[in-house]
Amino acid sequence: MNKYRSVVKLLRKYNQEQVLAFYNTLPKEEKELLLDQVLNIDFEKLISLYNEFQKDVSYTDAVITPLEHVEETKLSSYIKSKYIKKGEEIIENGGLAVITLAGGQGTRLGLSLPKGFFEVETNPKKSLFQIQCETLQMANIKYNTVIHWYIMTSPDNDSITKVYFEDKKYFGYGKENVTFFKQDTLPVLDFNSKLILDKAYKVKEVSNGNGDVFSSLQRYGLIEDMEKKGIKYVFIGGIDNILLKTVDPLFIGLCDIGNCKVASKTITKNENEKDEWVFARRDGKPSIVSSKRITKEMEDKKDENGKYLYKEINILAHLFSIDSLKLCANIDLPYHLAEKKNDYLNDEGVKIMPKSPNTYKYEQFIFDVFPYFDNILLLSVKREREFAPIKSFTGIHTPERALELYLNERRNSIKG
Ligand code: UTP
Repeated sequence: MNKYRSVVKLLRKYNQEQVLAFYNTLPKEEKELLLDQVLNIDFEKLISLYNEFQKDVSYTDAVITPLEHVEETKLSSYIKSKYIKKGEEIIENGGLAVITLAGGQGTRLGLSLPKGFFEVETNPKKSLFQIQCETLQMANIKYNTVIHWYIMTSPDNDSITKVYFEDKKYFGYGKENVTFFKQDTLPVLDFNSKLILDKAYKVKEVSNGNGDVFSSLQRYGLIEDMEKKGIKYVFIGGIDNILLKTVDPLFIGLCDIGNCKVASKTITKNENEKDEWVFARRDGKPSIVSSKRITKEMEDKKDENGKYLYKEINILAHLFSIDSLKLCANIDLPYHLAEKKNDYLNDEGVKIMPKSPNTYKYEQFIFDVFPYFDNILLLSVKREREFAPIKSFTGIHTPERALELYLNERRNSIKG
C-alpha cells in the first residue's frame, strides 16, 4: 500500500481525517513531512491517555503518611559546616553538573520566544538564561572549577536557543562547557479528542513534560558522558526561578553523607498555595500527593519539634546521583493531564490563538520517580532566599514579584 493510503486508513481508524484538510494544496516535500509525522504518532497511546483521564485516578486508596524533612534554619552552624565541607569537596573535584530544564512552552506567559530569553528588569536587563549562567560563573570562581551545564530544549525551541547562545557568545561560559539536548514531544488533543494542526503540513506536538529529562539524557548518551567526566551528582532545576540555587554545597553534602541518591528542596506552603501538592509517603514510598488527600487535621499536624508534617511543597530543585539517573531513565513514568492554550490552524487555514485553554496536554513529571526510592532527602529552605519563579503576568508568580525577591536577596547577601 502506498504511504498516503496507509495514512488515510490510519486516520480513518482513529477518526482523525481532519489532519489532511490541506493535504491537496501542499507541495510534495510538505506532503511527505505530514505523512511521515502521522505514521510516527502512537495513536493507541494517545487514545489510552485520553480515556484514562476521563476517569479519576487520584490514588484515593493509598495510605498517606509523613515524609521526614530537614529544615535548613534548624541546623547548627557546626553541623552545617561539616556538610558544606563535603559538598564543597565534591564541587571542587568536578563532581557536580547542572541541568536547566528549558523545554517547556511557557503558555501562561504567552511568549513567542523561548522562556529562557525572557528579560528581567534588572539594571541592566538580564535574560533568564543569563541569570542562571551568572550563578554558575560565580560558583566556578568560588570553587575553582568549571561546572558542566546541560540544557534541555524541545524540538520547537532547540535551534533558536542554540542560535541565541551563539549570538550571546555563551555569556562567556565557553561553548565546550554547555551541552544541549532535546526532549521528546506528544501531540495535543482538543476537547473532542481531535488532533489539531500547527501548520498545514504539521500536527501540533508539544513537549511532553519535564519528566522526560531522564530518558532524553539516556537517548543522547549523556549519563555515560557525565560518568566519563567524573560527575557524581546532577542538580536539575527549572529555567524560570531566578533565585534557583543551582550550586549548593550544603544540599550536596547532606545528600552524600546521608547516603541518599535523590534529594529535593522544598518550602513550607502558605495561604496562597492551598492547592499545591505536598511531599508525603504514599503507601510507604516518597511521593508528592494532591492536596485533596490532605485533610484539615493532617494539614495542622506537627511533629514533636513543632514541624508541620504535610506542608512541604516542590520548588523544582532536585539533586540526583549518577546511579539514580540510570535507574530513572528506565522508569515508565505516568502522564498527568493539563489543559493548555495551544494555537492551531482553523478550517480556513488561519492561525488562531485561543484566549483560554483549548487542548489536553499530557506531561510526565520528575517527581514521579521519587516512589522508586525508599528514601529521598528533603531540605526545606527559606522561600525568600531560593524561590522567585516567573510563571505569568498575573497571579502570584509575576516578573515584578520575582524581581523584587531577587533584588532583596542580592541586597541581603551583600550585607552578609
Ligand atoms: P512549567 O510547569 O512552569 O511549564 O515548567 P512551562 O511550559 O514553562 O509553562 P506553562 O505551564 O506552559 O505556562 C517548569 C519547568 O519545567 C520545564 C520548563 O521549561 C520550566 O523550566 N519544562 C516543562 C520542560 O523542560 N519541559 C516540559 O515539557 C515542560
